[in-house]
Amino acid sequence: MKTRILIVDDEVDALDLMEELFQKNGYETYTARNGLEALSIIRDHEPDIMISDLVMPEMDGMKLLDVVSKKYPDIAVIMITAHGTIETAVEAMKKGAKDYILKPLRLDEIVAKVETIAQLKSLIRENEYLREKLAKKYKFDNIVGKNKKMLELFELVKDVAKTSSTVLIRGESGTGKELIAHAIHFNSDRAKKPFVKVNCAVLAENLLESELFGHVKGAFTGAIKDKLGRFELAHGGTIFLDEIGDISPNMQLKLLRVIQEGEFERVGGTETIKVDVRIIAATNRNLEEAMQKGEFRQDLYYRLNVIPIEVPPLRERRDDIPLLVSHFLEKFNREFNKQIQAVDDEAMKYLQSYHWPGNIRELENLLERAVVLNKTGILTIKDFPPYVVQSQEPETFEIDTNRSLNELVDAYEKQIILKALRENNFNKLRTAEKLGIHRSTFMSKLKKYGIT
Ligand SMILES: Nc1ncnc2c1ncn2[C@@H]1O[C@H](COP(=O)(O)OP(=O)(O)OP(=O)(O)O)[C@@H](O)[C@H]1O
Ligand SMILES: [Mg+2]
Repeated sequence: MKTRILIVDDEVDALDLMEELFQKNGYETYTARNGLEALSIIRDHEPDIMISDLVMPEMDGMKLLDVVSKKYPDIAVIMITAHGTIETAVEAMKKGAKDYILKPLRLDEIVAKVETIAQLKSLIRENEYLREKLAKKYKFDNIVGKNKKMLELFELVKDVAKTSSTVLIRGESGTGKELIAHAIHFNSDRAKKPFVKVNCAVLAENLLESELFGHVKGAFTGAIKDKLGRFELAHGGTIFLDEIGDISPNMQLKLLRVIQEGEFERVGGTETIKVDVRIIAATNRNLEEAMQKGEFRQDLYYRLNVIPIEVPPLRERRDDIPLLVSHFLEKFNREFNKQIQAVDDEAMKYLQSYHWPGNIRELENLLERAVVLNKTGILTIKDFPPYVVQSQEPETFEIDTNRSLNELVDAYEKQIILKALRENNFNKLRTAEKLGIHRSTFMSKLKKYGIT
């Protein structure tokens, strides 16, 4: 493979000269007239080496160096500086440049410097293959995460994938439950067999039954021919029962039988059908609570909960937010053909402290909107909806003994209510429930503290 070199200079003559020189010496070349152009080439082609002039319009060499050494540390940068500005060269080296070339340009010197770096790079590349193989072990397609809980979860997924045991994935809405279900299937030896998803919450009971188990012709009005159910379609593979917490008692019973015996009848049919299907179920409901209320069968719960997997909410893995942000920026830049470079520090601070009731899906949606609408290339707080910023009054509470006990307790109570409201996405009913107080009590407290 040829070493790829990106040359950045606003002077066309110099650019042409160097391009010809490197092509003659067996390099693959790219050229750019300024920093912004360079960044877009880097994103598409990720060159091995970049040679850049300092003084350029739009985005100058030093700025470009800043971004590249932070975002693309693997690219070796050589800066070109005008004669007599050795201080600038030193500054560039401090910022991460590998080398510098002084003007006026001496072609043999340029080639020699690049050659040395290219040799080093090819050594590094040999190791890269091995490194990639290691990284793949922890990477499941497009699941981003370096947080400790997530790494543990990836390990668990890997182990679980080796078995055919039933898995119950729990977690708030938008945390990535479906992604995890995919990862389990595609890392298992069932990967070449079907992965069939059923959303149990969207179908009425009778429809769900025929969807899962199929039906025979004439089983009900509209059943004009035999139809295979999802369980049969998933034979040999995996069935993903999403929103399992929402199924009716009758369906719970039928499901229990499939799990226990691996068999069922089609709706209206008499033949008993046997299947080999791995079951992965997911829910964001609190099944223990549903069980206590008598809404979810205990025996089914235990059958499903053989291997529980808990996907943590985003606010418990805030350190992954910058990683997710750049993952989604890349994704939406590609999708919408945009070139958003980054989220600025202030906005990132807010994104990292927001409580994310809709978790990763919410983050993904906000970034999609921001990428589409942004015109400056850098996302700031103006690109995000005001509630991301507003819902973050600091929670401070000082015990000031000059105040009465009642006053202090009230102040504390107010903070608790505000926090709970934020965490429940300002849903009053749910917040009251979470706090374990009656709705009317909760409403009167809101009134008392002037919370609207
Ligand atoms: N770790 C992650 N890395 C990258 N993308 C993620 C990650 N987790 C979730 N996503 C993305 O967030 C969105 C929501 O994920 P997913 O549908 O798996 O969530 P869920 O838990 O099933 O949500 P719900 O309970 O609402 O069905 C998807 O677009 C998914 O690709
Ligand atoms: Mg889902």
